[in-house]
Amino acid sequence: MKILGIETSCDETAAAVVQDGRHILSNVIASQVDIHTRFGGIVPEVASRQHLLAVIPIIQEAMAQAQAHWSDLDAIAVTVGPGLAGSLLVGINMAKAIALAQGRPLLGINHLEGHIYANWLEGRAPDFPVICLIVSGGHTDLLLMRGHGEYQPLGRTRDDAAGEAFDKVARILGLGYPGGPAIEQTALNGNSSLYRLPRAWLKGSDDFSFSGLKTAALRLVEGQSEKAPRMEETTPMSEDIPSKREATVEKSEKADIAASFQEAVADVLVTKTVAAAKRLNAHQIMLCGGVASNRLLRQMMAERSPLPVVIPSSILCTDNGAMIASCGYFHLKADKTSGWDLDVMPNLRLA
Ligand code: KG4
Ligand code: ZN
Repeated sequence: MKILGIETSCDETAAAVVQDGRHILSNVIASQVDIHTRFGGIVPEVASRQHLLAVIPIIQEAMAQAQAHWSDLDAIAVTVGPGLAGSLLVGINMAKAIALAQGRPLLGINHLEGHIYANWLEGRAPDFPVICLIVSGGHTDLLLMRGHGEYQPLGRTRDDAAGEAFDKVARILGLGYPGGPAIEQTALNGNSSLYRLPRAWLKGSDDFSFSGLKTAALRLVEGQSEKAPRMEETTPMSEDIPSKREATVEKSEKADIAASFQEAVADVLVTKTVAAAKRLNAHQIMLCGGVASNRLLRQMMAERSPLPVVIPSSILCTDNGAMIASCGYFHLKADKTSGWDLDVMPNLRLA
């Protein structure tokens, strides 16, 4: 069974053809990062116009790489939300047009559920029940997944999403957009134990909070926070921190702040996910979403979890069409098809 997956919820125009929900025949992604970089973040109107320009060539390329004809498709899956309304609309209208012309079922897919199904595209299929951590630009959700389409919400962020925190701290450090990869790269040259950044444990809850950590990073940059003493230094702290840190923050200090921030985020995500998995007797831990491509997070989760950890390869963590097609396959098997009145759902939740 071949399904075309279309994803246009944010700043990637993506299309893929996936066979039987698990085998990628093509996976084509056009990123708009270069266009949004000059604005320091995503401009919704620019994003939808770019999707309009890119969507047809990207779908054609996905079909060509898969060596598929329109009549080979068994269904068309498309992201309906959450995301930017104008961007989602482009993908939905394309999907409707193809499904209508070919007389094939239309499958409206929740973007977050799509991220989860990236874990079905490689290796062995996950073993239920699974604890699933979705970490993306807009979401940090912890769920128990007992079977296909069965989600029990456990916790979510009370303020910033993990990816949002990466993006904001990167902006504070002047590292540009998107922040996650920039912080990861900068942190490679940093010392993560130089600054004591706070961790919001929210004991007794599976929720997360990253806004305090972001503010602590901002204070460090502004020179308002105390720097942990360097082991090898004897200089008094007051002399060690220039008053106008934002202007004077050095490359090495940026790297140290980036490394300390990245470690604090990973520490909280890993500790709370592992605790929930043990408490609920899950068989596996599953990660997904853009932040799951972070190497420190992947490594820390694998080291600290007593259970097998499943994480898609990096290219399948960030937005793509294959995850939407895979999710669509399981919807089709469960007879969850959509009507022609399918519309954008910018604030859609998973459970
Ligand atoms: O899932 P995604 O591609 O789009 C959304 O659904 O939001 O996630 C994008 C987010 C951005 O906030 C980006 O900074 C973050 O994922 N991200 C990373 C990394 N790569 C992308 N965060 C940390 N480390 C990375 N390597
Ligand atoms: Zn996403």
